[in-house]
Amino acid sequence: MHITPVLASLLLSILPEVASAKRTETCCSALEANGLHGKVVYPNSSAYTESVGSYWAENVQLEPTCIVQPRSAKDVSRAVSTLVDTDAGACKFAVRSGGHTTWAGANDISDGVTIDLSMMNSTVYNKQAGTASILPGARWQSVYKTLAPYDVTVPGGRGGPVGVGGFLVGGGNTFHTARVGFACDNVENFEVVLANGEIVNANKESHPDLYKALKGGSINFGIVTKYDLKTIDQDKLWGGLVIYPNSTTSQQLAAGHKFINNIHKDHYASWIGMWEYASKTDTNVVANALEYTSPVAFPAALKDFTSIPNTTDTMRFANMYNLTQELVQASGYRDTFFTGTFVNTIEMLKRTVEIHNEKIEEAKASVKSTDWTMDTIIQPWPTLFAEHSQERGGNVLGLERFDDNLFQVLIDYSWKDEADDALFNNLANDALEKLNAYAKLVGGDNEYIYLNYADGTQDPLSSYGHKNVDFIRRVAKEYDHAGVFQTQVPGGFKISQVDQ
Ligand SMILES: Cc1cc2nc3c(=O)[nH]c(=O)nc-3n(C[C@H](O)[C@H](O)[C@H](O)COP(=O)(O)OP(=O)(O)OC[C@H]3O[C@@H](n4cnc5c(N)ncnc54)[C@H](O)[C@@H]3O)c2cc1C
Ligand SMILES: *[C@@H]1O[C@H](CO)[C@@H](O)[C@H](O)[C@H]1NC(C)=O
Ligand SMILES: *[C@@H]1O[C@H](CO)[C@@H](O)[C@H](O)[C@H]1NC(C)=O
Ligand SMILES: *[C@@H]1O[C@H](CO)[C@@H](O)[C@H](O)[C@H]1NC(C)=O
Ligand SMILES: *[C@@H]1O[C@H](CO)[C@@H](O)[C@H](O)[C@H]1NC(C)=O
Ligand SMILES: *[C@@H]1O[C@H](CO)[C@@H](O)[C@H](O)[C@H]1NC(C)=O
Repeated sequence: MHITPVLASLLLSILPEVASAKRTETCCSALEANGLHGKVVYPNSSAYTESVGSYWAENVQLEPTCIVQPRSAKDVSRAVSTLVDTDAGACKFAVRSGGHTTWAGANDISDGVTIDLSMMNSTVYNKQAGTASILPGARWQSVYKTLAPYDVTVPGGRGGPVGVGGFLVGGGNTFHTARVGFACDNVENFEVVLANGEIVNANKESHPDLYKALKGGSINFGIVTKYDLKTIDQDKLWGGLVIYPNSTTSQQLAAGHKFINNIHKDHYASWIGMWEYASKTDTNVVANALEYTSPVAFPAALKDFTSIPNTTDTMRFANMYNLTQELVQASGYRDTFFTGTFVNTIEMLKRTVEIHNEKIEEAKASVKSTDWTMDTIIQPWPTLFAEHSQERGGNVLGLERFDDNLFQVLIDYSWKDEADDALFNNLANDALEKLNAYAKLVGGDNEYIYLNYADGTQDPLSSYGHKNVDFIRRVAKEYDHAGVFQTQVPGGFKISQVDQ
């Protein structure tokens, strides 16, 4: 039978799934035809397998129809233009940098094209300007390693392999936040590929609204192809991991509570409090990542932690590269992250750890995996952070509207067996709901949700407040009239999905 184009389109409309797969193949060949030949990889290649396997959490490793791996902003522009123009915008696509998000579909797509920025991963130090030009596919460890010989660093991820691209458009909490605000507050210029393929620079002078919106607004405006980040002079820190028995919990919480309220007195100190259960050893410990971003051992600001008797410690003088090699959380697991923010009170801190302990018992009762971990991580989120953001021109996180010193909770579970997906997701969701309910009861609640730690079922953009939601919506419309990044790029947190 001779299939005419009319008949073919009729057949395709009858079989929507076949039609969709067929169309996506057309998108892939269009990329090859438009100057990206050799940069488009298919499931039959090792480059494809490697790209899929390089997502941190196994549960987010989808299988796109093809993956395009641009080498330059021009390549990204060509890819976006092609995908937008082909078949009247029917080519759905995803954008991925380091691939560290833990929920499926944020940075990847099944029936569609993934733009994988990992080949764009260089870091260049601009001594005169006092900036580092970092490409989105870089991992923070390579950034620190490149900058170390110049005795400078930048505020970035605290685990070496964490990606740059998504981190910087979601905020970015760092060892240096108490000194310089969030990582995004230190971006002096974003080079961005817009929905129409245009490459623009967004900074204080040029496209200032886009510049501000990208500091927290994530994948709603375009694809960032270069970040110029202000460098920090000096790269020696005192830091490491201190492990304590679970029985020190109340001392830790008292120390943490005080630390959060006193950060404004010493901007060099940083504390990440981790309550960690590991099935392999069946132990529940407290691990403090203590960092002082100046070469001073046992500073007064960390005294309340260092005076608690520990089991082991790795505190030392080291640079960012060295310290961020230590805080690597293993890939190759299935993972879930849920997050909330609360008023810094002892009762809220206590309840956080109590719920952690309860969830461990619940997991033990029905888990199938033999290798699993449950972490509840407490991090300071004081008003000081937002003050630094304001000094640097502001972002869209909306934190300046809060008067309380806050702490943030990250519920972070990892497991091996797919059969436990529902169990751990439900436990994490329950833990957060329980904590939220308690917070409301005692007046310890706060609506802010940190985008970079949020699960796909959470609504971080909404938590930025009405003013910022309106602003993000307006900037998204202005730079992407057709809403390409709302519908054709379905992954990530979308302003069009915010109900306010
Ligand atoms: C082990 C681990 C450690 C972490 N440590 C920290 C930490 O210390 N501090 C902290 O604040 N957070 C931390 N995070 C969270 C981290 O900030 C997020 O996972 C972040 O998304 C990582 O960036 P990425 O490049 O890997 O993002 P991806 O997962 O690749 O992308 C995330 C989102 O951003 C979009 N995106 C990606 N690249 C671009 C781009 N170039 N332009 C526009 N949009 C883009 C994607 O479409 C996606 O929606 C950690 C996460 C993990 C798993
Ligand atoms: C891999 O698949 C693509 C798309 O189907 C095809 O064009 C290409 O020829 C295949 N390559 C090899 C080596 O089989
Ligand atoms: C950039 O990525 C390539 C390809 O994965 C890798 O070989 C190279 O080491 C990376 N460069 C840096 C600076 O990380
Ligand atoms: C940790 O300590 C708390 C009390 O502080 C206790 O209730 C809990 O059972 C302990 N957990 C483990 C696994 O030891
Ligand atoms: C950990 O405990 C050891 C042994 O008591 C002590 O010497 C060390 O100072 C402690 N380290 C920290 C960082 O508190
Ligand atoms: C970090 O520094 C310590 C010494 O202070 C050294 O033993 C270790 O090998 C270094 N690690 C890395 C990854 O450089």
